[in-house]
Amino acid sequence: MHQIEHLLRRTMGLDAASIGSSLISQTVRSRMQHCGLTKLEDYTRFLHETPAELSALVEAVVVKETWFFRDKEPFTVLVRLVLSEWVTTHPDGTLRLLSIPCSTGEEPYSMAMALLDGGLPADRFQVDAVDISSHALESAQCALYRKNSFRGQTRDYRERHFQPFEDGYLLNQSVRGQIRFQKGNILDGDCLDGSGIYDYIFCRNLLIYFDPPTQEKVLQKLGRLLKKSGVLFVGPVELTLVASQGFASVRIPMAAACRKVASLPEPQAQGSRRHRKPASKSLSPRSVSPLAKSNSRPALPPASATKSSPSTSLKQPPGTELENAARLADEGRLAEAVQLCENHIQIHGATAQAYYLLGLVRDAEGNETLAADFYRKALYLDPNHYDTLMQMATLSEKKGDANGARLLHKRAQRVLEKA
Ligand SMILES: C[S@@+](CC[C@H](N)C(=O)[O-])C[C@H]1O[C@@H](n2cnc3c(N)ncnc32)[C@H](O)[C@@H]1O
Repeated sequence: MHQIEHLLRRTMGLDAASIGSSLISQTVRSRMQHCGLTKLEDYTRFLHETPAELSALVEAVVVKETWFFRDKEPFTVLVRLVLSEWVTTHPDGTLRLLSIPCSTGEEPYSMAMALLDGGLPADRFQVDAVDISSHALESAQCALYRKNSFRGQTRDYRERHFQPFEDGYLLNQSVRGQIRFQKGNILDGDCLDGSGIYDYIFCRNLLIYFDPPTQEKVLQKLGRLLKKSGVLFVGPVELTLVASQGFASVRIPMAAACRKVASLPEPQAQGSRRHRKPASKSLSPRSVSPLAKSNSRPALPPASATKSSPSTSLKQPPGTELENAARLADEGRLAEAVQLCENHIQIHGATAQAYYLLGLVRDAEGNETLAADFYRKALYLDPNHYDTLMQMATLSEKKGDANGARLLHKRAQRVLEKA
């Protein structure tokens, strides 16, 4: 079995330990049965000599698990960054995005739905989507999804972008047309050769299946494919893997987003937080859908370089609990982030930033009532806490309180203008 594990590692980067040797061995047995072979040596030889069988084995071992808006926050942050950074610096031209691996399509389609809902016109962006699995790609192109693909609590996007069809939901052509699917093995030298470079790359839940040398190779490739100013989104547990490989977290809680180290700005002095306008003139708030407005709060810059909001007096020298809490939240370690915020409150007393982070974590967990309680506490301590105002606006929109959301957006806008 070692020889087969070695072949899989060489071919597709799979580290047998990541899914377990027993699962590989079960899959091999089932392939042997399918091929009518009873001896492992015979199957191993057949596998080495027959590319079609190697592809069939790869198909059988890949983990295609995915769903729409998986982890939610990366898609929210994508829209926020596109509107606040890309749109403002690109009055024309096409935003280029990549989803690799895209599996059965839920990830790239979520990127497209989020951007369309955010008000970005269809002709301003294109998503390339790549996966090693032909079966996954066929299914992605059919774009017919059943309930397993819709797992989050918020599913309003389904009403906007899908039509009920047989026992599932068929994605509208307006979203499908934004994606270009192609088969590719990220380890192949010619994968995405000549495709140009991308503004935003999603490479989530792939690195975890690779050993460290393969991770390094893949990250080098992603570094070459990503623009200097671009952002790479990885899976929540993969953020620590990229740290030593030329990328650094941009420390936006729960987004697992990073930039190439060489492109990161020098840390700014405390109190010099840049507040970007949420969107360009061509995407005025009126033309932006509720989702975009709710997504338009500025990204948290590296915690060591920020104040929590224009009016907050909180001092955060590097290494404080709140910086660490934001980092842990960013890595998806929500319970630890909560613990640090609570410690901070015990030691330093209540601060708006601590309550804001607690709210954000509860929000990510889907507990909107508790999240709103924390946001209210944050605003009690600092009525001008921009990020909290924007999060509260999002919650109001979700509850259908459009008027409340509008007032909160206005308040947030005034904070930005005064900053
Ligand atoms: C768990 S899914 C992740 C899908 C999506 N990015 C997400 O996070 O929901 C992993 C996908 O990686 C693909 N894959 C595995 N090895 C690959 C490789 N060497 N090159 C390209 N895709 C690969 C598999 O076919 C599978 O569809």
